[in-house]
Order: sequence, then C-alpha cells, then structure tokens
Amino acid sequence: MDREQLLELVKDMTLEEKAMQMTQLASDVLYHLEPLKLTGPLREWRFSDEQLRETGSVLGPLGASYLKKLQKDYLNNSRQKIPLLFMTDVIHGYVTITPIPLAQGCTFDPELVKEAASAVAREAAASGLHVTFSPMADLVRDPRWGRVMESYGEDPVLNGALAAATVRGYQGEDPKERGKIASCVKHFAAYGQPEGGREYNTVDMSRGVLLDFYLPAYREAVRAGAAMVMSSFNTVERIPATCSKFLLRRILREKWGFDGVVISDYSAVEELMNHSVACDELEAGEKCIHAGMDIEMMSGVYVKTLEQLLEQGKITMQEIDEGVMRILELKNRLGLFENPCKDADEQEESRLLYCEEHLEIARRLAREGMVLLKNENVLPLTGTERIGLAGPFSCTGNILGGWHCNGKPEETKTLKEALEEACGTGVASAMTKHFSYENADVPDEVEEALDRLKDCDVCIAAVGEPEWHTGEACSRTDLRIGAHQEKLIHALKAAGKKVVAVVFSGRPLEIAPVLEDCDAVLQAWFPGSAGADAAADILFGKYNPSGHLSMSFQRSVGQIPVYYNAYNTGRPMTDETNHYTSHYLDCPNSPLFPFGFGLSYTTFSCEGLEVSGDAAKASARIKNTGERDGETVVQLYIRDVSASVVRPVMELKAFRRVSLKPGEEVQVEFSVTKDMLSFYNEEETWVWEPGEFDIMIGLDSVHVEKKRIFVPSEAGG
Ligand code: GLC
Repeated sequence: MDREQLLELVKDMTLEEKAMQMTQLASDVLYHLEPLKLTGPLREWRFSDEQLRETGSVLGPLGASYLKKLQKDYLNNSRQKIPLLFMTDVIHGYVTITPIPLAQGCTFDPELVKEAASAVAREAAASGLHVTFSPMADLVRDPRWGRVMESYGEDPVLNGALAAATVRGYQGEDPKERGKIASCVKHFAAYGQPEGGREYNTVDMSRGVLLDFYLPAYREAVRAGAAMVMSSFNTVERIPATCSKFLLRRILREKWGFDGVVISDYSAVEELMNHSVACDELEAGEKCIHAGMDIEMMSGVYVKTLEQLLEQGKITMQEIDEGVMRILELKNRLGLFENPCKDADEQEESRLLYCEEHLEIARRLAREGMVLLKNENVLPLTGTERIGLAGPFSCTGNILGGWHCNGKPEETKTLKEALEEACGTGVASAMTKHFSYENADVPDEVEEALDRLKDCDVCIAAVGEPEWHTGEACSRTDLRIGAHQEKLIHALKAAGKKVVAVVFSGRPLEIAPVLEDCDAVLQAWFPGSAGADAAADILFGKYNPSGHLSMSFQRSVGQIPVYYNAYNTGRPMTDETNHYTSHYLDCPNSPLFPFGFGLSYTTFSCEGLEVSGDAAKASARIKNTGERDGETVVQLYIRDVSASVVRPVMELKAFRRVSLKPGEEVQVEFSVTKDMLSFYNEEETWVWEPGEFDIMIGLDSVHVEKKRIFVPSEAGG
C-alpha cells in the first residue's frame, strides 16, 4: 500500500471503525465477548460484536496456528480488511528465555544483547508476533520496585546503549523482514522512580533530573528506530504520562521527531479518572486525543466518547485521522496488508523455538551478565573438591525471571543438573525445597543440611528471592534473603565449610548480613533458560566471569536510593570527622558494591591515563596482571567540576569490553566529544560550558584514574 491508498482507507472509515482501530483488546475479549476480571475493578465490556470485529490490534498469546486463525476470522468479518496487529510482552525471550534485562545490563555488551534480541525476534515472529512491548528503558535506582529486573540499570548511557541494541536486534534494518518484529519502547516516561519504590506510585522529579537521567535512554531507543512508544502509568510533573502533551507531543514528537505509534499502558486511559485529571470518560478521551495517544490499551474510552467529543467540538477529526493513519502506516511498514500473517509458520516454530542455537546465545548472555562480587580463594572450583549444594535454587527451573512469556521452567536445567554434568559426578544436596507461593522463605532444614553435607569441603548456597516476587506489582520493603536461607549460610560457615553463594534475584538483594560468611558470591540474577549451565561454566572456570554491575548494591533498605551518579550536595561526606556533612549515623554512604563493579578470576590494572590538551581524547593502559585469560569492561567517566547547574560527581560516557591474555596489555582510547561534556541548563537548552572537567577511566565507578583539565570555549571534540 502507498500513502495515498492508506489515506483513502482512512477517508472511507466510519468514526466507530476509527475508534476501534485506536483500541487494543486482549484476544480473549475478541473471542469470548464477555465481562472480564481485569487489572483493577471488574468492568462490564459494552462493546458490540460489530465494534469488536473492527478492533485494530490485539494484546495476547502467541502461536502461529492460533494467530493465523484469528487473523483469517477477523479479515473475513471485517468491512475494511485492515489486518489486525498482534502485540505482546516478549521482554527477554519467547520460548528460549534470555537473562533478565538487569542482568543484560551487566554485560556492557550491546552487540551480544542485539544478537540475543534477534534470536528472540526469530522465535516470536515465527509464532505470529508483530510487535513486542520491549525494551523497557526506564532508569532505576530503587530495588524495592519489582520492575528493576526489566531495566538495564541506573545509568542513562548504559541504559540507552542496550535499549537501542535491543531495538536493532528486534527490528533489524526493516521490521518487515522475515524473523523481525517491531519494537515498542516503554514506559515513557520515568516509571522507574515511584515514590518509596512502591509500584504505580507517584513519580515526581525536577525537570532537570528528568532530562539528566530519566529521558536519555528512551531517546536512544527512538533514535534506533523503535516503531512504537508506550506511555507509562505514572505522573510526570503532576500530569499522567498517558495524556501528557509535554511528553507525548513536545518531547517525543517535536524534539525527538518520533512519527510512530504511541500506545497507552493497560487501561491507563480509563485510569486518568483515578488520577483525578479526568472527571469522566469524555474528559479522559479528550485529553488523550489532544496528547496524541494513538492506541488505547484495554479500555473502551475512545469508542464511547469520540463521537460526542466531535459533536461538542472538543476534538477534531484531523486529530483522530492522524492517529489512525499512524496505526495504518505501522501495519503497512510491517507488510501486513499484503501478508497479514507475516512470519507465522508452524514449521518455523518447531524449528526455532527453544533451538540449540538460541540456547547457546542465551548461555553466552547469561555468563556475561553474572557478576562475581566476592571470591576469597575458592573459585573457580577444580572438580576435585567434595561439593555440596543447598538452598531453594538448587533443583528448580524457576530461574527464568518475571515476564518469561512461554518459557519452560519445567524443562529448564537445574543448577544441580548443571553442576553434576560439569564435574561428572553426583553432587550432594540438601534443603533444596523451592519457595511456596505463600512463603517468601523456605522451611528450616538447616540441621538436616549440615548432616547431609558434613563430608563436603565446598558448599554452594543457591539462594535468592522467588521469581514471582519480581516484575510488575512486586514492590517489597524487605530485601533480605529469607531468614532460613541466611541461617543456612551462617551454619555452613560455622561448620567450617567454604561457602559459595549463588544469588538468584531480579534486583540487588540485601546480602550484607551473610556476606562475611560467604567465601564467594556470584550474582546470577534470573539468568534464563541456559542459566544453570552458565553458572556452572563460571563456578568451574570454563568461563571467566566478566559481568560488571548495572545497578549499585545497597547495604540496607534504609540506604535506598544509592547510586553512583549523584549530585555532590553542599556538604559532601569527604571528612568522617566532620559531623555536619551528608551522611547517616548508622551506615556508610558508599554502596555495598558499586555500579560498574565486577571481579574476575584474573586481575587487571588500569594505569597511565592520558588526556589530550583539548580533552578530545582520553586513554589508559589496561593490563591483565593475573594468570589466566579474562575480559573486563573499561569505563570512561567525566565530571563537570563547576557549571550553571549542579552536575553529577561522575557520569559514564563510554565503555568497552576488552579481552586480554595473562601479561597482555592494551591502550584503550576513547574520544571525548563535546556532546559528552554537555547537559541541559536551567533553560533546558543543551549546552556545553567551558571550564574544568575531570576525565576518568576505570574498571568500575570507584577505582578510576583521574585527570582534571581546563577545557576552553573553542575546544571540545
Ligand atoms: C502491563 C505493563 C506493560 C505491559 C502491558 C501489556 O501493565 O505495565 O509493561 O507491556 O501491561 O501487558
């Protein structure tokens, strides 16, 4: 179809057909036409059969044969023959599940993240998907919020680089191509900063903080060509993002030039009344149309109100037609008018879903995403140790993480199986019961465990949080691992064992209470379908860990939020003797483990920082000073020492993975561009102000080589 043909289609549509084209319903609503118990209050769906027959897009399950049938039935009954758009949440895998995005953030590896997203797209496309509601580019600082698992972490540059890589992996050069799907970046904007870390709670921040930290990653995803943007549930500057003209028109379309489709989050249009910015559905509909909300997900405001809003002159047909046209253009961009089922293909499904190639990619990504936080001469295991295994993640496939779509926990290899395969012998295990839905801890079987593992030298404690305690609507105020899990670690240590904690979680947990009794800690996150093998690869040294934290680990919940790129304040804690500085009486300011941190089985040095006179280049010598091959992540940070508005004490501006053999060294050079030294000033203008800058290179956000230079106004790359 060309643009003229699409415009003709729009002209020929009735108002009700336009309103339904702008409505997305779950597939079971289309088929069962009955009231559904939905997120939030039970609602009567008052759609007529005719209206449902004109729904523009469907939220819901996948499956080539199911979606081909749905599309065929739909088109047989549709007057306009405009194909349905199929969308759902393939967040980090469809059947082959990759590590949660927070773990992907720890890889600092955009290329591998992109490769994994391509594999995910191949599976989902073969099962009939057109659009995935991913990547989530929300910056996060508060691990009480359950959805930190879906984010690439606390840094705007890392978040942006990996969100963009994910978009490119899903869409390729053209999402119409076979095996590609369109990407819908979410949740626009700043959903990751709810007060108190409490899900769906108010978000309130200065415009400057929004511009400095929370918007850049969405912009990178848009620049990478994301076909859609999903608005977020929360308010931004007292206006729900769902109807925010500042966000959806001024920032997204006018400043960033986004011309794709904007979709609301689930029932968020109707929830404007809860937000008390709409007194009724009419006002909700009017505000969303004015803001340029193209698709209303899972509520029926548009179909009930557009006619009256037009009659009252509160909206224009042009506004409606613009939204409908963007939806038809997306369908056209995906080739659906010519090929309504796109890549849905049962044979391809059976070939691709959970295939070895994809499991291998998931395993590589899981290995790179795991972070070695502590290791006191216990890892890697040699295979000669008498190994014991205990804890709720010993014998379970529930390591896929939230939003694991059609993943197969019952078929997912367990840690015990992977360890036994790796060392070629049985591994004694105890206290392996997994969590029950009723209880976030596991039964206290510590005494039995001590007895069962009494002959073991090294005990692996597979601990963490239930995967159903992470993801949407899973905020928590207590982030410690359960008391019986803590008791297990203390008891194993007291019994003289070497304790290796492998932590499975969707967020930084509060592991400080057990850290001292652990000889090693491997943060495994929820590593996906190949996660157990990936963990075994690291534990037995088949892979030298290279993950670096995408999110700081807090010492305690009381310390949250703790993140590396903070503003300095007027009384920074630089001198512990000075009482009147920004600090706590009962906790250091520093995190337990900082952003960018990760250990290896070898050691690296970062020395000889050189910065060119005009600050256009910065380089350092990275050397593998240990005994085995290894990879690390070289990180470039800057600090604008003094500016017209406060600036963070550190800002990641670039990073690079380097792989070195023992004794090998490499000069890693970064270009320091003017853009890297720029920021939004008080007038919200993107500026670069001459003055002193700290240029830093390091292997985490704490141990850095630093040089302070003055950059005059005519310099800057
Ligand atoms: C949910 C989530 C969003 C998801 C959507 C569709 O409420 O907030 O991330 O894409 O609904 O399932």
